[in-house]
Amino acid sequence: MSRILITSALPYINGIKHLGNLVGSQLPSDAYARFMRARGHEVMFICATDEHGTPAELAAAKAGVPVAEFCADMWQVQSDIADGFRLSFDYFGRSSSERNRVLTQHLAGKLADNGLIEEVSEKQVYSNADGRYLPDRYIEGTCPNCGFENARGDQCENCTKQLDPTDLIDPRSAISGSTDLEVRETKHLYLRQSAMRDKLDAWIDKQEGWPILTTSIAKKWLHDGDGLRDRGITRDLDWGVPVQYEGAPWSGMEGKVFYVWFDAPIEYIAATAEWADANGLDDAAWESWWRTDKGADDVHYVQFMGKDNVPFHTLSFPATMMGSGEDWKLVDFIKSYNWLTYEGGKFSTSQGRGIFMNQALEVMPSDYWRWWLLSNAPESSDSDFTWESFQGGVNKDLADVLGNFVSRVTKFCRSKFGEVVPEGGAYGEAEAAVTAEIAKRLKAYETHMEAIEIRKATAELRAIWVAGNEYLQAAAPWSVYKTDPDAAAAVVRFALNLIRLYAVLSAPFIPDATEKMLAAMNVTDTSWPDDLDAALSALAAGHAFEVPEVSFAKITDDRRVELEEQFAGQG
Ligand code: MF3
Ligand code: ZN
Repeated sequence: MSRILITSALPYINGIKHLGNLVGSQLPSDAYARFMRARGHEVMFICATDEHGTPAELAAAKAGVPVAEFCADMWQVQSDIADGFRLSFDYFGRSSSERNRVLTQHLAGKLADNGLIEEVSEKQVYSNADGRYLPDRYIEGTCPNCGFENARGDQCENCTKQLDPTDLIDPRSAISGSTDLEVRETKHLYLRQSAMRDKLDAWIDKQEGWPILTTSIAKKWLHDGDGLRDRGITRDLDWGVPVQYEGAPWSGMEGKVFYVWFDAPIEYIAATAEWADANGLDDAAWESWWRTDKGADDVHYVQFMGKDNVPFHTLSFPATMMGSGEDWKLVDFIKSYNWLTYEGGKFSTSQGRGIFMNQALEVMPSDYWRWWLLSNAPESSDSDFTWESFQGGVNKDLADVLGNFVSRVTKFCRSKFGEVVPEGGAYGEAEAAVTAEIAKRLKAYETHMEAIEIRKATAELRAIWVAGNEYLQAAAPWSVYKTDPDAAAAVVRFALNLIRLYAVLSAPFIPDATEKMLAAMNVTDTSWPDDLDAALSALAAGHAFEVPEVSFAKITDDRRVELEEQFAGQG
């Protein structure tokens, strides 16, 4: 048995996420966590909301509520949606927690002790009317290049030219529209990542079997241009972890908070501490997952994220951990995902194009989404969601293959033998052949899951379902019954055992359906089929069951067209 720590990139708090976000981190990490638990490992599966930064402040302002209240509400919304998708986090925390404040300040202090923090004086635009410094993208004005009147301080959307706020003609605050702006000199903290370049480089080189997508992004940032740059880790904002705390090794930092990307990954650790607090456990409980000097040296730590998050997890966060000089557990494997597109284009929040997590659950059950998304996870390249493909996945895989098998077998049994497993004779050649086929597929499925090739694993699982269908079709107990009821009974007994097996194997992907299958089949032993022959005899003659209500309702063409229209957006 191993101890496996799994974190999913923290969804940003400013709004409900779309399916691309779900499949790029939370969903595959959940399937992996469920699989590892089923294999008997000790799993700690952590996620949280990422609550700090300007987008949260702005979203709150737009909603007309104080930012703390906005975040608390949105946390609840996101947490409920996570439950709706059956995401089995051991804890779903909040980066605005007290635990994260303390830990973030502690780590910044350690970095300073080790000479890795530098104070840098910077010129920044201050808005008198707003009473605050403005981040570049909250300054608007006319583009000096093309004359576009709504260019942002970081970039002109019209001609794509990269800008400095001082380049803008007639600059104004994007918050209030005020033109009463001035440039002020202010002090910020920088993390001296450049001083840690060689250490990070060596650490990345040491990693074996990381996905190319992960290492290539890390290497690019380490070596391109001027390499790993020192990074400002403070911002002039109210909402966040305060930089000026009691005992801080710097002064004059009032009114500043740590940059959201500095405190967010630290929340992986803090959320585990929140988990301990919530369960009445002491610090040793969470430290045994995170401190190599306190028991975490045997932990295997896997992170899941979209590819845009990779630089922060391969470089910045490890720089914080290593630079602290303390014995923090570093990540062992980073699984990163490509993008999910929607009907050939981008998901667009502003144009209402694509599907958001809450809407998804309103129109279809969680299992349908889980199955389609995981069996089409953007693992080797981007994937495209189309309603046609979704309809195909649900109707063919879930309804025609799995659902049909379960219902045919149990209903046939009920009509001929009642709702108990019939006796019949011993299993014969046909059963041996399909068992061998399943054994081979099962091995592949396990290997893919261990390597976190989720999409490939679902293909093997589907093949395992198909094998059962083909067996049943060939064995044809409904005709055999007429001449040899005993032989038919053996086939049914074997097929009922396949249902139990399918429920156990499918649980990481479609947990609701498998729970119903297990309940109806009256199964208490849901252990992983390490011994397949034994697993296929687990339900002995006389075992009572009920015909399960697992029905995967097919999506009709009319319904599909309706959904296509509903989610097409204005774009
Ligand atoms: N909120 C970020 C995003 O949505 C991800 C943060 S991951 C963590 O892209 F490392 F900060 F936790
Ligand atoms: Zn322009």
